[in-house]
Amino acid sequence: MAKIKKPIQVPKGTFDILPDDQKYWKKVRSAVSDVAQSYGFGRIDTPMFEYSDLYMASVGEATDVVEKQMYSFKSKGGDMLSLRPEGTAGVARAYIENGMTNLPQPVKLYYTGPMFRYEQPQSGRFRQFHQFGLETIGDAEPVLDAQIIQACFYLLKCLGLKKMVVQLNSLGCRTCRTAYRRALVDYYRHRKNKICLDCRRRLKENPLRLLDCKEEKCQPIKAQAPNIVDYLCEECHKHFKMVLEYLDELEIPYFLNNTIVRGLDYYTKTVFEIFTEDEQGKTTPANSLGGGGRYDNLVAQLGGKPTPAVGAALGIERVIHQMQKDQVKVSAFVPKVFLVQLGERGRKKGLKLFEKLSEAGIKIAESISRDSIKAQLKIADRLGAKFALILGQQEALDETVIIRDMATGVQETVPQGKVIDEVKKRLAK
Ligand code: HAM
Repeated sequence: MAKIKKPIQVPKGTFDILPDDQKYWKKVRSAVSDVAQSYGFGRIDTPMFEYSDLYMASVGEATDVVEKQMYSFKSKGGDMLSLRPEGTAGVARAYIENGMTNLPQPVKLYYTGPMFRYEQPQSGRFRQFHQFGLETIGDAEPVLDAQIIQACFYLLKCLGLKKMVVQLNSLGCRTCRTAYRRALVDYYRHRKNKICLDCRRRLKENPLRLLDCKEEKCQPIKAQAPNIVDYLCEECHKHFKMVLEYLDELEIPYFLNNTIVRGLDYYTKTVFEIFTEDEQGKTTPANSLGGGGRYDNLVAQLGGKPTPAVGAALGIERVIHQMQKDQVKVSAFVPKVFLVQLGERGRKKGLKLFEKLSEAGIKIAESISRDSIKAQLKIADRLGAKFALILGQQEALDETVIIRDMATGVQETVPQGKVIDEVKKRLAK
């Protein structure tokens, strides 16, 4: 085998989650499952890769996500597959494939897991990242749009985040969007010479994306562009108004932003993004924690019956980054008991005793490779253990163990056979 000259590094845009950071991930995972279940969402896990056609038919062929960011490959059997760039398409596919249309509607599903997009890595933007997603499929009621936003807000609040705000827009249905697109194209066509090259392409391929442009010279034109809310049909207008009324009732801070068009093609009616405000009360795309909206045509587009749906996804890395920035306190594993062993005999007996205490459900830690009692007690103290169990040569021979109260330093010798009961008794005090 050829010798590697330089150590191999993690692929660009990916990272390791090291032990010190795991406490954040554990906290997020546990809050995600508590909040999702309390709002009535059942967990779903879909494959990390699907047929590429699924994303072309849902996210859209002319979107950046499909056109530029998908990790696609041909399998040995000749199938065109893609690593999932997002979760909604897979969930909608699973809803149809598993006959969930026959269940009482709406079907509420949640997921967490890695997603993959070939993006230019930068702060908050990775090539492998993790999402938490909620999807309510099979009901068109505007209260469900509000509930999705409420559940995301509640989760972020449970994780200790503050100053969240929602930016909302409505993209209408097929009817109103057609009229709007025509007005938008007409407006931009008259200003074709003043817009960037990308916008000229967008004008031809996907006019709604014109509102996504960040290019300086396009900003004044974008600011004066027709507003989609003025083109909503009666039904879409009513739906949007109801969503806003529910948000008012929930006291969720929001503002309308007619340039929120989202980067995925399946949306209809409500679309939104959740931000945290920085010190100046400003929001930037980099502090968008998540987004979502309605996708009433997606299930039918993928071959199912016409089925309205709404959902959202939060980026877990961005949520954790914000928790760290806000200095949210997250406790790591705190053992109740620390096992101190001395000498070869103590170490041998200690290994078994450690397992017995763990089996009895007592949170225990050790530092089995250290010999000095002083060093071991120092670690016990640092970890915040209430008691240390000291097992030296003599105790190993006598089949006893010393229980040391870490706060008072008081020690008592007890038979090894009784140590679990003794520890439990003391912990219960
Ligand atoms: P999205 O806006 O593409 O929506 O992604 C949702 C969130 O995932 C973003 O707001 C961001 O926090 C995170 N995210 C996206 N790309 C990256 C990246 N490259 N690196 C780090 N974080 C990222 C969706 O994916 C839709 N499926 C949401 C949805 C669910 N709509 C309806 N249901």
